[in-house]
Formats: sequence, C-alpha cells, structure tokens
Amino acid sequence: MGQKGREIAKLDHKWLINELSKAYAFEWVVHYYASLASNIVSGLRTPVYAELFKKAAEGEFEHANKLAKRIAELGGEPPFSMSEIEKLAGIGIIKFPENRSDIRGFVQLFLKMEQHAIQLYSDLAENTHNKDIVTHELAEDLLAEEVAEEEEYENMLRE
Ligand SMILES: [Fe+2]
Repeated sequence: MGQKGREIAKLDHKWLINELSKAYAFEWVVHYYASLASNIVSGLRTPVYAELFKKAAEGEFEHANKLAKRIAELGGEPPFSMSEIEKLAGIGIIKFPENRSDIRGFVQLFLKMEQHAIQLYSDLAENTHNKDIVTHELAEDLLAEEVAEEEEYENMLRE
C-alpha cells in the first residue's frame, strides 16, 4: 500500500502492526498444531479427521498470509523468529490428548483456539471501526470464518 493508503489508517501504526502480528503469530501456531494433529491422529476415523485437521491447517495458514499482507501494507514486517511467534501468540502450552485416537480431545482443543481467535478478531474489528477501514474489513472477514469454524467444532462435539 502506498502513502495515501497508509494515511487513511487513522490509528497508531506501530500499535496496529503489533496487534496484527499477534494475530499472525496466533494463526501460525494454530496452523502448526492443526497440521501436526492431521499427521498424528489415529483410530478408526483417522481418514476423516486427518483430512479435517489438514483443511483447518490450510485455512489458518491463509489467515496468517492475509495478516502478513496487511502488515506489509502498513509498512511493517511479520515477526521473524519462531520463538517470537510462540511468544506473541500468547496461548501458552498446548497439550494434545495422550490418546491419539481421542477425537473429542483434539476437537475440544481446536475449539478453544477458535474461541481465542474470535475474541482476537472481535477486539480488532472494534478497535479499528471507523479508524482503519481496510483492517476493519479484514478483521470482520476473519471473525466470520472463525465463528463458522467454532460452530463446526461445536457440532462435532454434539455427535
Ligand atoms: Fe484463523
């Protein structure tokens, strides 16, 4: 984004880039764990859930890239190191179910992550409202996707 594009984002860009970086980091962490889950989930329903977690991982990766694009438009760069990503993501230690065929355990874990993402994008959408239209729209889009994913996971737990 050029100069004018940056001017119309009427927020402290440093603050905004930091908020976007936190979201970027979070998406990467979820991408990693969903991808890992797709590789290690076991049991009778492995084909279904391996595919489901793989798709989820791809979705989160796309989210991370959209955030990276917005960070670049604002003149920043996403966090560089993996350790910084883990720190910025702020979700602490992730524990997978000991039993790799415990699908409910996996789903519950990812549901929690979706809920964290919902909070994140809800805050971002609120804080950018009427101040930075482009980031606001991005936050709304991501929020809608995370809400749909939360619903999907909740449905699975109802089975
Ligand atoms: Fe996401």
